[in-house]
Amino acid sequence: LRITGLIGSLRKDSFHKKIFETYQELCKDQFELVEGPISEIPLYNQDVQAKGFPSAVQELGQLIQSSAGILFFSPEYNYSIPGVLKNAIDWISRLENNPMGGKASSIISGSPGRLGGSRMQYHLRQVGIFMDLHFLNRPEIMLSEMNGLFNEHGQLSDQATIERLKKHAEIFFEFTKARL
Ligand SMILES: Cc1cc2nc3c(=O)[nH]c(=O)nc-3n(C[C@H](O)[C@H](O)[C@H](O)COP(=O)(O)O)c2cc1C
Repeated sequence: LRITGLIGSLRKDSFHKKIFETYQELCKDQFELVEGPISEIPLYNQDVQAKGFPSAVQELGQLIQSSAGILFFSPEYNYSIPGVLKNAIDWISRLENNPMGGKASSIISGSPGRLGGSRMQYHLRQVGIFMDLHFLNRPEIMLSEMNGLFNEHGQLSDQATIERLKKHAEIFFEFTKARL
């Protein structure tokens, strides 16, 4: 079973990228988590679309099409979805037969503050209504004071968080299988 992971931060040392990498290991017994690259996707422009979908969009669409579900690993930007992630979703939504349609999905976010990216999560769920994503309702993973969960090598090291992610992977696996 393959799941596409979409990461809403492009920076090299992104905490969400590191959470994604840890999750990729933790979920190995249940499914294969593959990163859906979004950094080469241009800004959405209907004139560009009219000339043909950029290859980065086509490739992401094919990966999503071949996946049973989508996991988002994303920060919150100004109480909402980072533009790079929303832009990728906007492109995907214009492909024929919306490849996200009907897929199981879940969101993992963190923040340096207390709210763990929760406001972004509910905006993303709203966008998911039109995309026809089927979100897992619980457990919600909103990691507060995220910076303290990593060791000096930048790896996610907080044991309680690792256990939460492992449990999430087991539950998301069952949820996804039930949707197939
Ligand atoms: C443009 C911008 C907007 C941000 N807005 C929020 C916000 O609304 N809420 C929040 O909790 N953190 C906010 N942050 C802080 C991010 O949560 C923090 O930088 C986080 O580490 C980004 O994720 P990353 O490490 O995966 O890049 C913002 C950061 C940036 C760069």
